[in-house]
Amino acid sequence: MSVIIAVDGPAASGKGTISRRLAKHFHFAHMDSGALYRLTALAVLEASGDPTLEADALSGAATIDLSRTGDPAIRTGEIGVAASKVSAIPAVRAALHDYQLAFITNPPGDSKGAVMDGRDIGTVIAPHAQAKLFIEASPEVRAHRRWLELSGMGIEKDKTMLLAEILARDEADRTRPISPLRPAGDAALLDTTNLDINAAFAAALALVSPRVEGALKERHRG
Ligand code: DC
Repeated sequence: MSVIIAVDGPAASGKGTISRRLAKHFHFAHMDSGALYRLTALAVLEASGDPTLEADALSGAATIDLSRTGDPAIRTGEIGVAASKVSAIPAVRAALHDYQLAFITNPPGDSKGAVMDGRDIGTVIAPHAQAKLFIEASPEVRAHRRWLELSGMGIEKDKTMLLAEILARDEADRTRPISPLRPAGDAALLDTTNLDINAAFAAALALVSPRVEGALKERHRG
């Protein structure tokens, strides 16, 4: 059985970077589940579809191109908003569920475990995960981080607009009826507002390490 670290949190909370670093630390595979929703949104918009329509969103989910996970085109605000819209459609969540389950059950590269980040990993996708984190940060700090990330990709965007987008997406992701963004009851909470990425990673590692090490020992024995 693979060891699973579930990392949830709102947009630009630092969960992606923390998850990648945790995966590297433990030699686990990593999946950014948000990319699946972003790729679905990209497929819908490229087909001139409507991300709020179930039929359009479902054909998008059926035609996602995983080789484009690293494409900066899925990191734009427009795709983020469309991703949030397709993600509120139950049939889309069901269609993307199998990818995620297959990944955590049999992580690629013979890894002993998987780190998956998203909105509902600890609550819905992997409620049995051995370690769960819920990462938070103030909306202003998250807007600044997103601005830095986009600037690094050569995308110029007004910070006030980014803040408005983040607040709107938080509201949509937290209040949707299906798999809303919320911490699992057994998740460790980590507020990264006043932490740089190194400090945030160190805090995350300290929170998950005892559980992950314990689960690895258990796995070895079993
Ligand atoms: O983490 P992100 O910003 O790349 O996610 C984009 C959108 O996808 C987010 O607004 C909500 C949706 N999402 C989701 O509903 N469930 C997940 N596990 C991951 C992302």
